[in-house]
Amino acid sequence: MQKKTLSDISCKGKRILMRVDFNVPLDLNGTITNDKRIIEALPSIRQVLETGGRLILMSHLGRPKGKVTPELSLAPVARRLSELLDTDVVMANNCIGTEAMQQALALQDGEVMMLENLRFHPEEEKNDPEFARELASMGEIYVNDAFGTAHRAHASTEGICHYVPISVAGFLIEKELRYLGNALANPERPFLAILGGAKISGKIDVLDNLFDKVDTILIGGAMVFTFFKAQGYQVGSSLVEEDKIELAKHLLEKAAAKNIRMLLPEDVIAASAFSADAETATVPIDSIPETMMGLDIGPKTIDTYSREILKARTIVWNGPMGVFEIDAFATGTIAIAHALADATAKGAISIIGGGDSAAAVMKAGLESGITHISTGGGASLEFLEGKELPGIAALND
Ligand code: 3PG
Repeated sequence: MQKKTLSDISCKGKRILMRVDFNVPLDLNGTITNDKRIIEALPSIRQVLETGGRLILMSHLGRPKGKVTPELSLAPVARRLSELLDTDVVMANNCIGTEAMQQALALQDGEVMMLENLRFHPEEEKNDPEFARELASMGEIYVNDAFGTAHRAHASTEGICHYVPISVAGFLIEKELRYLGNALANPERPFLAILGGAKISGKIDVLDNLFDKVDTILIGGAMVFTFFKAQGYQVGSSLVEEDKIELAKHLLEKAAAKNIRMLLPEDVIAASAFSADAETATVPIDSIPETMMGLDIGPKTIDTYSREILKARTIVWNGPMGVFEIDAFATGTIAIAHALADATAKGAISIIGGGDSAAAVMKAGLESGITHISTGGGASLEFLEGKELPGIAALND
């Protein structure tokens, strides 16, 4: 890793200002429904506390659009963290200002506090220099461990680095870059990518970047119908990006020219409507009824894709195979998650690029069977696109 990390600094007696991504899902009662992002930040948090640092944590939660929004307070997150650490976590009622600063200055070695939601201030997302300077003044050393937010050039991720003497990466960022970075730079072959999701437009840059690296690509999700249309098939009422049909043709030609095996489904689960109780049928892709839409990959495709996955040594997966939020159309996505776990058990490296595919693996209860599940949705996608992440680029080399 070319960036300085938490291992390179001494925390004893210092105010360590750490950006974490505690943007966790909450239910209507404000209860955290998945605390993976908090758990994954614990190694960095413990390192600071156990080496005598005075830890000030900061994060965003949701998208409050620059307004104080009580239901997006980080207080429930601070409580959960306190349970996990079995220690008090002081909760500030703002992320800047005199009171928060006094609380920060009162911290003793090994104590921890949490600042209130950064996005209650519009200056955070605008990367406002004055706001970044104010945040920076809270601590003496800045640690960024918010991989999930590293693709955002915000005041707490990028701007702040201009106002602190030392800025380093935390252990979670280090781990994410090790898995994602090694998979792209130095994969054990065969290297297989699985791409799903609704739209080709959201995956063009990933495809382009992966074309130079992978041996095989398996395509799923609604974006397959734009490819099928490009190949001249009738796709019924399935989702098609009409303005991306030419692009789909170009991508198919490019894959062929680069000798990449880009597989599309052989069959799909078609439904009469986008709903859990719709009438469904399993159909080959050349026989999708005019009034039906494809909402999942079919059993033949599951079989073919699973066999491909079992042959691979490195597997990167981003995007579900179907509408996995609805049980009737989750079979394909869950089967792919199982195939990944089986391949991992046989020694392959499996990496899930966060977001929906991570949620699917959790739905299938297979987290422990996967080598690495990224905590970043948008961030891991941009990493797979080959883009520089501003929150990481800004750290000390
Ligand atoms: C995420 O959940 O992907 C990150 O926390 C970033 O959130 P954002 O998309 O609202 O910037």
